[in-house]
Formats: sequence, C-alpha cells, structure tokens
Amino acid sequence: MCGIVGAVAERNVTAILLEGLKRLEYRGYDSAGVALFTNAGKLERMRRPGKVSELEQALAGEPLVGRLGIAHTRWATHGAPCERNAHPHFSGDLAVVHNGIIENHEVLREQLKALGYVFTSDTDTEVIAHLLNHKLKDHNDLTVALKATVKELHGAYGLAVISASQPDRLVAARSGSPLVIGLGLGENFLASDQLALRQVTDRFMYLEEGDIAEIRRESVQIWDVDGRTVEREAVQYRDGAEAADKGEFRHFMLKEIHEQPAVVQRTLEGRLSQNQVLVNAFGPQAAELFAKVRNVQIVACGTSYHAGMVARYWLEELAGIPCQVEVASEFRYRKVVVQPDTLFVTISQSGETADTLAALRNAKELGFLGSLAICNVSISSLVRESDLTLLTQAGREIGVASTKAFTTQLVGLLLLTLSLGQVRGTLAEGVEATLVEELRRLPTRLGEALAMDSTVEKVAELFADKNHTLFLGRGAQYPVAMEGSLKLKEISYIHAEAYPAGELKHGPLALVDDDMPVVTVAPNNELLEKLKSNLQEVRARGGQLIVFADEKAGMTNGEGTHVINMPHIHDTLSPILYTIPLQLLSYYVAVLKGTDVDQPRNLAKSVTVE
Ligand code: G6P
Repeated sequence: MCGIVGAVAERNVTAILLEGLKRLEYRGYDSAGVALFTNAGKLERMRRPGKVSELEQALAGEPLVGRLGIAHTRWATHGAPCERNAHPHFSGDLAVVHNGIIENHEVLREQLKALGYVFTSDTDTEVIAHLLNHKLKDHNDLTVALKATVKELHGAYGLAVISASQPDRLVAARSGSPLVIGLGLGENFLASDQLALRQVTDRFMYLEEGDIAEIRRESVQIWDVDGRTVEREAVQYRDGAEAADKGEFRHFMLKEIHEQPAVVQRTLEGRLSQNQVLVNAFGPQAAELFAKVRNVQIVACGTSYHAGMVARYWLEELAGIPCQVEVASEFRYRKVVVQPDTLFVTISQSGETADTLAALRNAKELGFLGSLAICNVSISSLVRESDLTLLTQAGREIGVASTKAFTTQLVGLLLLTLSLGQVRGTLAEGVEATLVEELRRLPTRLGEALAMDSTVEKVAELFADKNHTLFLGRGAQYPVAMEGSLKLKEISYIHAEAYPAGELKHGPLALVDDDMPVVTVAPNNELLEKLKSNLQEVRARGGQLIVFADEKAGMTNGEGTHVINMPHIHDTLSPILYTIPLQLLSYYVAVLKGTDVDQPRNLAKSVTVE
C-alpha cells in the first residue's frame, strides 16, 4: 500500500528519499515519485509507473538535487497506475503526497474547479493540493493553511507537503494513516513507516490521530486534533534484528518461512510458567476481564482471519467458550447482535488494516466487554486503541504473503484459549500442562517440517502447469486449507479453493479431474477415517491427490496419490505444523512459475484503505 518519505536537511536528500521508498516497496505499490525543492530554487518532480528502480533510473538520467523533498509509492485507488496519477501532486508552488482516501473528493473537486483550478490527474490527492493552495491565499503560512485544509477533508489521510515559497519546512498531517517523524542532528525526516528511515536515524516520534506537524532542520512542532501544541515522546529504536535483508535466501518469503521456529520461540518467551500460561502476558487487567468472558467475537482480514478461524475450534473445544469469527469488512457494516459478556478480539499483523481498525472502533459503541488485539506491531493503531494486547514476536514481515505472522498469531491464540480456560476453570484436567509442554516442543517440530523443504519443492512440479487446485481439510485443518489456498493464489496466481472435505460431494467434486490437483492436510485424529473416504471420492474421479499426512496415519503412495509424511504432533498443535509445508508448496510453485514472490501483482502488505 502507499508509502511516504520526506526529508529536510543540509545535504542533498534525493538518495535518502529513494532508499526510503525502496524500504517501503514490500508494502505493494504500482508507481513512485519524488519532488524536491531543488538547488535551482524551484519545485521539481520525477514520477514513474512501475518500480522504484525505474524512478531511480530516470533520476540517474536527469538528477534532482535539493535539501527538502517528499517521495511516495502509490497503490492505485482513484485512477489508473500511470505517471499522471503518481504522487507528488503539484498545485502552484506546492507538492503533496498522500496515503489514504479522501471520501468527499468529488464535492471538493467541483468547488475547486469552479474557483478555476485545473486537474491533471484522476486522484483524490490532487484535490488536497489545490485546496491547500487555495487556503494559502487566505493564510499565507503553510502550516496554518494545512490546518485549515484538513478541516474540510473527510476520510483517511497521512499527508506530507512542501512548498517552494516556504522551503524551510516540511508539513504533515495524520488522520487514519500512520506517520512517524525521524529525528536527526540538524536534519529531520518523515515517513509512513519507521523502516523507511532506519538508514538515517534510530530516534522516532509517532504522530497521533489528528496531529499536524511542522518539521524543520532544527525543530519539530506538533499540534493535536484540538489545535493545542503538544509534545510527542521521542523513542529510541533498538531492535537491530529487523534488517530488511534477505540473507542467504532468494526471497524474503522463504527467509520468513524459515524463521518460524525462532519467532514462535520468541512469541512464547516469558509467557509460560512450568505448566501454565501466564495470563498477565495479555496485560495486568487481563485476569479480571477474562473471568467475565462468556463469548468471543474475532474480527480480522486475510491471513489473520484464517488464524481466527482456527482459534474458534480451540476456544470451543478446549475452553468451552462460544466463538464467532468474521472478516472485518463485513462485520463493520452489518447490524451486529452482541451477546452479553463478549470479548472482542482483533488479529492483525500490521495493526493498521483499515477494516479491522474500523471494526474495533465500531465495536466500542456496541457494548462488548472489552477489546483485545493480537498484533505484530507494538506501535500500531490497533494496539494503541485496544484494552488488552498480545504482541506476536514475528519481527518485521516483508513478503506480502504472510507466513511467520500467521503461525505466531496461532501461538498467541492458543495462549489466549488456555488463559481464558484457566481463568474460567473450563479446561479439562491436565490439558493446560500438556499443551504448555507441547508448545515448548513446537519450535523443534517446526524445524522438522522445514527440513522437508526439498521434498515439497519436488511436489511443486505437479502444479506448475495447472490452472486450478482444491485444498481440503476437516476440523481445525479446514482453515489451514483455506490459508494454503490463499497462499497459492496470492503468489502463483493459480486459482485455488479450499473446502471442508465433507462438503466435497456437495459441489466441488464436479470440478475434479486429472487437471485439478487436490491438496489435503491429514493429521492423525478422529476425522482421519472420514477424510480417507473423501479422498477416495477424489481418486474415483481421476483427481491427483497430494496428501500431507501424519507419519502414523498409515497413508501410502499409490496411483495418483502422493503422500508426504509429516512429523507426529499433538492434534491441537497440528494446524500450526501443517501450515509450513503448504507455505513451502506455494513458494516453490511461484518460483517455478517465475512470479514476483515477495511483491505479487495487485496486492499490498498492509491495506490501510477500504
Ligand atoms: C493484506 C495482506 C495479507 C494480510 C491482510 C491482513 O491483504 O496482503 O497478507 O493477511 O492484509 O493484514 P493484517 O496486517 O491486518 O494482518
């Protein structure tokens, strides 16, 4: 999704801006641009559809040199991804970059056209540039004009603005789209994500909702939503382990898949006692709140939604707590009946997904008992706005297709299940101690699954020339099948559907032939025999089966049946383990197909607009 970088310094900032954009590439985008107040004393820009490398090449041919600048990667919402629509947008002597969506852009556009402004793009952002230009006529001062401008904007925005008439500063506004100021010595920076600025500073100041900032070389001034001058704490960022570096791996996705034993270990650290989960891992008030919980409502998007689907099986089976799971984009717009004493749980890697955040904000009006976020980013809006938080410790996830965030979310959700069961006394005798022990062994089990890397790579060849696939699972493995099919479609562009295996005969069986591989996850549980019958139904229609099966399940290779044996694991933890070979499978199919694994077409890492 869109990214913003800005800088005001004594040195040329072009390289800083470009490096910042590169560091934001993982978020997904389709054009890039930069505007500088150049040493020639005027505002100049370069924009290109496609990758940042294309912008870089263009700048190598026609360099822009200046000490004040803003840059942007755009993920098209209003208007096609072409140069005309790429940011920065100009109006007179000012330049604007924008993340988010301005909902009243059509009304504003008509008003501004009537005032004589000419539009050169189809974007909602250009409206902001012209409106600000108009306000400058009354207010003269860029910061004051920006304050007047945002009062008329409806929707979500993170904004950065520079002007040739006031080249001593960069001004910014945040509402619904994050912005962070990077503090340097005699120079300061701005970005939509601190990762973009890690090469120039490790001190950051996070803007809050409604904040306006004026950033100069030597000073930063911030006003809150009510216009009062405020101080925002400067935070020193220490985690050096998050380098945006692929290491020995060919893609970030493969690196992140292989990090799973380590990040699962990290997510468990400090959260387990000898034989119990430490409930206060969810915050000091968790025990008191959990004791009152009689229902759970989970809301999330994409991969995080699939984690929620798995949790439903755990919460009902282990903790005896009724649970509903819904995608945020549906939940936020329907009339919801809230059962008494329901805990509202959001799951999100980024903590900035627009639909999930909006669902949380709506939920606050609906009478939920309280809110809990399972999230990977400590400084995210979701974390800040929730009553309780469990941070997953996946570290920065760069690959657009989520992998390690998912497995750490599952670990967090199992900790939640056990905590709720513990506090409410609903767990069966011995269950918690057994699962705590199994969780401790989980990183080793995940390592064993990763050792199957080359076996899965071989199996991937069966998919390279296929256009459709089916993923089957039963019980808590059904959401694992959903996640497997999502991974495959995201990065290999092969159409993939997931079905609970028992539903096969109610429709999808009609599609099965030898051109449609059927992937199945088959742990050794009470549903195994039923699953085997479902697989017979597939074989009888000539379908090719690829079965990831427990080594004790007694399944063997045969005509059209490829069995990949998985290490034996406690059934409760099997969704986490069986996710690994499905991630590897998608990865290797995508590599064979030659797609852009880390930045698949049309997708964004963090969807901060509706
Ligand atoms: C996007 C990403 C997915 C992710 C989803 C939810 O669609 O491409 O990988 O699962 O957003 O994101 P979140 O940050 O809320 O988990």
